[in-house]
Amino acid sequence: MKTIEVSRIRPACLSKDGARAHAISSARATRVERKSGRAGAGTRTQAISNRPEKFASSDFASLVDLAAADIPETHHLQEQVISEDTLCKLEIGVLDSGEGMKALRRFNDALDSLAWREDWESALEPVWAEMAYNLESFNPVFTACMLKVQCTLGSSDYVARDACLQSLIQPLAGEYGLHENEKLDKTHRELFSDFYTSVTGRPLSHILGKSSTTLKPRAGQLLFAQMMKDIGSGGGVFDGPLQQASYALGYNLAVEYLANPEKTWLLDSFQRLSNAMLEGKAKVDWKFLEVHALGEKEHAEIGHRAVSVFVPQAHARIVQRAMEDHDRDFAAYYNQLARLIEETA
Ligand SMILES: [Fe+2]
Ligand SMILES: [Fe+2]
Repeated sequence: MKTIEVSRIRPACLSKDGARAHAISSARATRVERKSGRAGAGTRTQAISNRPEKFASSDFASLVDLAAADIPETHHLQEQVISEDTLCKLEIGVLDSGEGMKALRRFNDALDSLAWREDWESALEPVWAEMAYNLESFNPVFTACMLKVQCTLGSSDYVARDACLQSLIQPLAGEYGLHENEKLDKTHRELFSDFYTSVTGRPLSHILGKSSTTLKPRAGQLLFAQMMKDIGSGGGVFDGPLQQASYALGYNLAVEYLANPEKTWLLDSFQRLSNAMLEGKAKVDWKFLEVHALGEKEHAEIGHRAVSVFVPQAHARIVQRAMEDHDRDFAAYYNQLARLIEETA
C-alpha cells in the first residue's frame, strides 16, 4: 500500500525532537485511517496533531519557567537581602494601612449587626459558603508560593532556598494537622466543619451541597482565581524564577499578615454573636477560630522570615507590588462579604 505523506504543519512551540515524534505519530495515524478506509481521517489526524501543542503550552511550563534557570546560584545573594527596616515599612505602609484592613472592619461590623436580626441564620448562609471555600483556597495558594521558590532550583542560593522552604511548609503542614513535636491533629477543614455544625446544628454538607447552585461562593472563587493567576505570573509583571519567587514570598507574607487580624476579629465577632443569638443554647466549638487567632501571628512572623532569608534588597519593589495586589483583592472579597449581609438587612 502506498504511504501517504504526512502533514508538514509543525506546532510553533515544539522542539525538534517533539516535532519529529509528532510527525511520526501523525504518519502512523494517517496510514491506519487510510488502511481502514474510514471517513474522517483528516479530522482524526488533526486531533492527534493538537496534542503535543496542548502539552507544550500547559500552565505548568509557565509556572516553572525553567528556561531562565541558567543564572548561576552564586548571583542570587551577591547583594544584601532585604533589610528589616524595608520589610517592616512595607508591612505597615501597604498592609496595616491598606484597603484589606478597612474591608475587614466593615465585614466584622456587618457580622455584629446580625445580633439584632431574627433572620441571622439565613443571612449567614452565603457567608458560611464563602468562608468554606475561601479558607480552603489558601492551601493551594501556599503550595503555589512554595513551588515558585522550589523552582528557583539552580538559580537561587542553595542554603537560602532551603531555609526559606522550611519556613513556608510549616503553616501549610498545619492546615493538614501536622505540627512540630505534636501528634497528628484534626485538619483545619475538619475544625471548620466542627465549628459550623456547633453553631448551626447542621453538617457542613448542608452548605457544600448548594455551592454549585444557590450558594455559589462567587467572591471566594474570584479571589482564588486572582491569587493563583498573580502568584503563577509574578503579578503579570515580573519574569524569571527569582523575581517570581520574590513576588510569591511577598504575596505569602501579605496573606499571613492579613490573616492575623482577620481571624482574631472573626473570633471576637462570632463570640459576641453567639452570646446574643444562641444565648447559651448551643455549645460552640471555637477551636477552629482559636487556633487561627493564636497561630496567625506566628505564621506572619514565619512569612516575614521566609522573605528575609531569600529576597534581595533590589526586589523590595516586587514584594511591595505583591502585597498591594493581595491587599486589593482581599479587600474586594471582604467588601463583598459585608455586602452579602448589609443588603439583606
Ligand atoms: Fe487554617
Ligand atoms: Fe496562616
